Amino acid sequence: MDDFFTLRTVTWAGGKVRMIDQTALPTRFYYVTYERPEQVAAAIKTMVVRGAPAIGVAAAMGVGLAAVRSRSTRLPEFTRELESAASLLRSTRPTAVNLFWGIDRIMAKARSAASVKSAREAIVDEVKAMEEEDVAVNRKLGANGASLIKDGDTVLTQCNAGALATVGYGTALGVVRAAVEQGKLVKVLVPETRPALQGARLTAFELVRDKISCTLISDTAVGLMMSRGRVDRVIVGADRITKDGYVFNKIGTYQEAVLASRHHIPFYPAAPRSTFDLQRAHEQVTIEERGAEEVVRIRGKRIAPEGIPVANPAFDMTPSELVTTMITERGLLNPPFEESIPRLMS
Ligand code: MRU
Repeated sequence: MDDFFTLRTVTWAGGKVRMIDQTALPTRFYYVTYERPEQVAAAIKTMVVRGAPAIGVAAAMGVGLAAVRSRSTRLPEFTRELESAASLLRSTRPTAVNLFWGIDRIMAKARSAASVKSAREAIVDEVKAMEEEDVAVNRKLGANGASLIKDGDTVLTQCNAGALATVGYGTALGVVRAAVEQGKLVKVLVPETRPALQGARLTAFELVRDKISCTLISDTAVGLMMSRGRVDRVIVGADRITKDGYVFNKIGTYQEAVLASRHHIPFYPAAPRSTFDLQRAHEQVTIEERGAEEVVRIRGKRIAPEGIPVANPAFDMTPSELVTTMITERGLLNPPFEESIPRLMS
């Protein structure tokens, strides 16, 4: 297996979609290949593929599969078929805006085409371009963010905002990778990220594989680590950043931001343009509520009594006043974010 500096999580493979099955990591590493949009929708829902940029590209490719499989010869019928695939894919997960961005980008190609043939060609070109773009954007974002990291820093993250959450290289971990590529010594503190354990299973897997220094901690150890001076900066990914500068990311991010503020540690979300939602303010965003099974079991083993009521919000919202700087491929954004976001991200 290649290292995660170069490996691709999702790829367009000649009219099929190939992706790493992230539910099997870290114990088993294999790819799955899909030919139908419904399979991609199921993969997004069950988190075979997850992470905002990765599901954006995967969903776009899901619509791409509908385009290459369609037998329609008339454009209105072809577009209706794509709309139906798009609507299924849109219903998979509500919080990461990249999902909707990816689908809309493909649907725009279908709507502006003059024939089924040209629509199909334009869509296939677009999904391939989106795959390449994702890696290029993350490399740019990583280089911009690396300027904030000092040699010897310890970075606390949350969830997995690495190569596995994107097509490749990663957002928050892309910043770490870029700093490492610049020759800086960087250590990463990895909270396990209950309930789905993306930190323990995925971030730890990527970092160990790439020989980047890291330590796994339980989610509940974050405050103590900060109070002991063991965290120099917090770098997380994002699933949606609204026009008023609120950051939606994996559950647990908000408490990291509050603790970082208490300990005067800089808090940096790292996200590409496709994660910014310039249409909505924070009150208009739906936070995904996932099933109780993820909480009452750990990797299939029951840990809580039968009948216990469970709440399982998958994301939380960090208000802009807790954010020091946002790292993007277009540069660094500083407060006030209501001004810097539209200026740089429109
Ligand atoms: O539920 P997930 O695993 O899809 O959540 C992923 C995250 O919250 C990531 O931190 C976020 O998508 C940023 S990924 C570059």
